[in-house]
Amino acid sequence: MTTPYWERFQPTSGARPPRAWFTSDAPTLDLSGDWKFRWSPRADAPLDFVEPGLDDSEWATLPVPSHWQLHGYGAPVYTNIRYPFPVDPPRVPTDNPTGDYRTAFRVPSTWRGQRIVLRFDGVDSCARVWLNGTEIGITSGSRLPVEFDVTDTMSWEGTEHLAVRVHQWSSGSYLEDQDMWWLSGIFRRVTLEVRPAGGIEDYFVHADYDHRTGSGTLTVEVDAPARVTVPELGIDAAAGEVVQVPAVEPWSAESPRLYDGELATGAERIPLRIGFRRVAIAEGVLTVNGRRILLRGVNRHEFDPDRGRALTAATMLEDILLMKRHNINSVRTSHYPPDPRFLDLCDTYGLYVIDECDLETHGFLPHEGVIPGNPADEPAWCEELVHRMRRMVERDKNHPSIIMWSLGNESGSGRNLSAMARWARERDPSRPLHYERDYTFRDVDVYSLMYPPHAQVELIGQGKEEPLEDPELDARRRAMPFIMCEYGHAMGNGPGGLSEYQELFDTYPRCQGGFIWEWIDHGIRVRAPRGEYFGYGGDFGEPLHDGNFVADGLLFPNRTPSPGLLEYKKVIEPIRISGEDGGLRISNRYDFAGLSHLHFVWSVEGEGIERATGRLTVPDTGPGQSTVVPIPELPPVPGEAWLTVRAVLAQETLWAPAGHEIGWGQLKVGEATRRAVGPRGPVTVTTQGIRVGPGVFAAADGRLGRLGGVPVEGPQLDVWRAPIDNDRSFSRDPNELAWRKLGLHRMQHRIDEVAVGPDELVVRTRVAPAATRVGLFTTYRWTADAEALRLTVEVSPDGDWELPLPRLGLRMALPGELQNIEWFGLGPGEAYRDSRRAVRVGRFRARVDELQTPYVFPQENGNRADVRWMTLRDDAGAGLAVAGDPQIDVTARQWTTEALDAARHPLDLEAEERIWLNIDYAQNGLGSASCGPGVLPSHRLSAAPATFTVTFRAIDR
Ligand code: GAL
Repeated sequence: MTTPYWERFQPTSGARPPRAWFTSDAPTLDLSGDWKFRWSPRADAPLDFVEPGLDDSEWATLPVPSHWQLHGYGAPVYTNIRYPFPVDPPRVPTDNPTGDYRTAFRVPSTWRGQRIVLRFDGVDSCARVWLNGTEIGITSGSRLPVEFDVTDTMSWEGTEHLAVRVHQWSSGSYLEDQDMWWLSGIFRRVTLEVRPAGGIEDYFVHADYDHRTGSGTLTVEVDAPARVTVPELGIDAAAGEVVQVPAVEPWSAESPRLYDGELATGAERIPLRIGFRRVAIAEGVLTVNGRRILLRGVNRHEFDPDRGRALTAATMLEDILLMKRHNINSVRTSHYPPDPRFLDLCDTYGLYVIDECDLETHGFLPHEGVIPGNPADEPAWCEELVHRMRRMVERDKNHPSIIMWSLGNESGSGRNLSAMARWARERDPSRPLHYERDYTFRDVDVYSLMYPPHAQVELIGQGKEEPLEDPELDARRRAMPFIMCEYGHAMGNGPGGLSEYQELFDTYPRCQGGFIWEWIDHGIRVRAPRGEYFGYGGDFGEPLHDGNFVADGLLFPNRTPSPGLLEYKKVIEPIRISGEDGGLRISNRYDFAGLSHLHFVWSVEGEGIERATGRLTVPDTGPGQSTVVPIPELPPVPGEAWLTVRAVLAQETLWAPAGHEIGWGQLKVGEATRRAVGPRGPVTVTTQGIRVGPGVFAAADGRLGRLGGVPVEGPQLDVWRAPIDNDRSFSRDPNELAWRKLGLHRMQHRIDEVAVGPDELVVRTRVAPAATRVGLFTTYRWTADAEALRLTVEVSPDGDWELPLPRLGLRMALPGELQNIEWFGLGPGEAYRDSRRAVRVGRFRARVDELQTPYVFPQENGNRADVRWMTLRDDAGAGLAVAGDPQIDVTARQWTTEALDAARHPLDLEAEERIWLNIDYAQNGLGSASCGPGVLPSHRLSAAPATFTVTFRAIDR
């Protein structure tokens, strides 16, 4: 049996040599549109479809670009590490879904006689192509371009007939085991273009910047005699000439200065956008234009909930704008080169890019051990791997935004990776090489890890990392800057602990930041009769899948920012404002910029009510510097008072309007006047129950049943939270397993005593799960003065508690009408003890449903932290007030924690006619253990004696 092309180690054939992706004045034709389409479950459907004359009137159509699984053919499959087929490279299953595409197009007759090229920007995973019935070539390498010369296959008979057969599985699938959906088809654009005789095939712009002199050098290597002009710089030079530019503004992510130029021959003109910049590693530090930069980055997969990886230009721009508006300055194109248009946007808007090759063989390296035959080291794969690197570097080499090349992701190490590195170093010595899995550090220029715990980062910062065995390689690594190509796993509620990482980047010059995993949740929109939801692994009938591990982004699938993104924005803010010695310290944490593009506006609020506002004069302060300015003159402000200073854009930029907030700080400027607790009222026993002030309690168990006019249930001690992804069984800190084993989700409440005193009701209980010795002695002490009912809860652990508690607080049920919430505390968003930088002290309002965060996989969410007081009212204004003494954490939902715990999609949550209110003393931190370190010890909620006080008041209409 001969090997079918899709099982060859290097299927691509008939292709033109890789070259830069550019536009010019040479004519092009975009072939996107509705193509005729036939889907087969196997790769061996008849080849009749390549004939131009075939009657395809009965065929369906499929948009190009798109993925066929998102148009009703086959189904998406999600696996993280595991290949969804047997590992037997380069063989793939006989059941190999295959799409046959046909399209017909007309080409202007003026093109005749010229060289014509057909380009595919991305086809997943392997395609064979025919024009007018003649085969022109084969391509694999899903996220890499391929070009075919079709000059001699054009018919010039009016209509040209293109036929493409695409296979879902190919040898390339072994190289494309990225953690994402397996989605197939022609998913990027297809274009036809003229390559004029005497035109330019390829060029390489070298635009260097010398920060010591402020001068630049420009050389454009071209394969044809051409001229380079940059009018603004007075450049008019022959291609290949080294042009000195005495004074030039450099390009950086903060100020992405591009000079418009042109590269021209008599036959073709190519617009150039030149960014002068130098990337270097100097004394162990990664620099751009001579300065240390801090990577405030994200890992970006291409994803859209309806279109998969077939992104529109508008979506790419949306990603860029969202990144810039959230203080992000860098992107790792995990784990493949993006649509080339995305890189143009990075040049223009200013983002540093690590461009990563389309390579991941993680399925050879499962947790259980190594499967032999990893393509990283098998000689048979070498040519294909180097070819992939070439296709990326050649395509993308002219982007100033790209500061590093990455060999790929999670492919182990070996000779073939070394060959890729060698090729890249030779072709482009100007950019350092990145790859995280080369633990010899021979093939890389930066020390990169994913998900190291804080303590390890600290050691690396201090240069005290564990030595490598080979002293030479160890010395090489010690001289490298350190980055985290992935950290802060943004799966579900989290990540926690980001600010602690940021402190390490601030402390150790070698620690230069990193890239959050990841930018967006890959939830696929499903429209079901019950409603709409975002599907994850297993929702499409996959026998093997990795569940919701595919939903681990800072954006929800519909690109709404999650609380994690808001937290990250604040943690990486380039302006830090803090109170110091009676003044305000303004720290400029940019890498290059001053402060002149910002306005500093202040406001002062008492109990969240604004009393005065103004603008602060801040002297221009250089990057890395700080300045202290006096606190503005403030009027007297009643109640707990906070001064908020916000750094906002003074003027509109390309990516945000004037007034857009960059950073902020708050300073407490007045203490609350504490309400004096009045003399205690009497406790009385009536036929309706025990009365304490406005509260009526059941005589049998001492539980509150009514507060003024409001019927309530509870409150009673509660420790359960719907596990967050970071708690779950697959995490590195699988608390959920241990919690459930202990039974924390099914605690029993034993009433030991209901003691009615003259002015105090005391209910003594022991709260514990079945089948164990451990428990929590819990005493509720109820008193009342003329205004409020007051509860002090004392908790004291019994037995050996080894686990952290999920939560420690109270739960109670309230009437469903109390939809209108107002609180004074941290807001407006949710906050947890290790993710609370994004929230500020203020007074906020929301309806109950607005307090929920729609994580793709339902879990604990919506906690409002440090609440001083909160009111819950019906639409007429009646309800109740809850206050902490001094503070509480609060969540309010229309379902129980148990229902939230049981739900698999937000759609499963049905609103009850009650509001479940959790009033918490504390909650365990979030951590990042779904992939990374668990909760830091300082954010762990250990079972320990605790006392907290809450007051309740009925509010009449
Ligand atoms: C990393 C990997 C990513 C992703 C992440 C977990 O190991 O590089 O692609 O799988 O873990 O979400």
